[in-house]
Amino acid sequence: RLSEPEAIIASLAASTGSSASPVANRALAGLRVVVSAGPTYEDLDPVRYLGNRSSGKMGFAIADSARRRGAEVVLVAGPVHLATPPGVRRVDVRSAAQMHQAVFAAFPADIYIGAAAVADYTPRMPAANKIKKSNESLALDLVRTPDILSEVAAQAEGLKLVVGFAAETENVAGYARGKLVAKHLDLIVANRVGVADGGFESDQNAMTAYWQDGERTFTPGAKTRLADDLIDLIVERLDA
Ligand code: PMT
Repeated sequence: RLSEPEAIIASLAASTGSSASPVANRALAGLRVVVSAGPTYEDLDPVRYLGNRSSGKMGFAIADSARRRGAEVVLVAGPVHLATPPGVRRVDVRSAAQMHQAVFAAFPADIYIGAAAVADYTPRMPAANKIKKSNESLALDLVRTPDILSEVAAQAEGLKLVVGFAAETENVAGYARGKLVAKHLDLIVANRVGVADGGFESDQNAMTAYWQDGERTFTPGAKTRLADDLIDLIVERLDA
């Protein structure tokens, strides 16, 4: 006898390692979600750049999860080697300045989720030609990049929810709560980086979400499942 459709989908999802929800949950239908993901590269000269270890896995999983919940999703991606989730519109960028421009070009939106590891500093003036070695040491002149998340929270009209991430190596909860307030966010997701089994590059993560008067620690595990857990929380906070 043929199994129920939900059982077939669940079985397929399990065999492919996908986190596809067995039940069609379209709680975000009719909403537009902008997700940023991956690192940014800040060019020093034509051959070198300042970057970071973000793989984009967390942000891409979130974009995929939001899409499966029925949202229209724009994924602004730094330089990563990942396939675009089905049904997601992807905009590739390289630098923090390009990510800033692409995020604002993707608005209006209902939800912004900033999972990208955006550079805080960029070279004041990238060298036109390859920097040649001369002295024993080299000082770089760096200037602040725009804080995309703060500007989104302050400026973007019509947003129902602004979600940030905090990647920390120490005092994770304290720094995350500080960013929640300083950047005027609705929700912040804290994760520890610099550890082997989570944070950057890993397929696994451990995350706690904070909002003004609450918090939720998710069961550590695959970024794909954690993305689903986060989207579930976002749906709850939209209704709160
Ligand atoms: O990509 P993976 O390998 O899967 O790793 C996942 C992750 C660890 C990168 C991800 O889960 C994560 O924590 N992303 C945010 C990393 C980060 O840059 O955190 P932050 O604490 O430095 O920044 C705080 C927030 O401000 C972030 O939402 C960031 O997107 C945003 N920001 C920061 C600087 C800037 N100039 N503009 C920003 O929008």
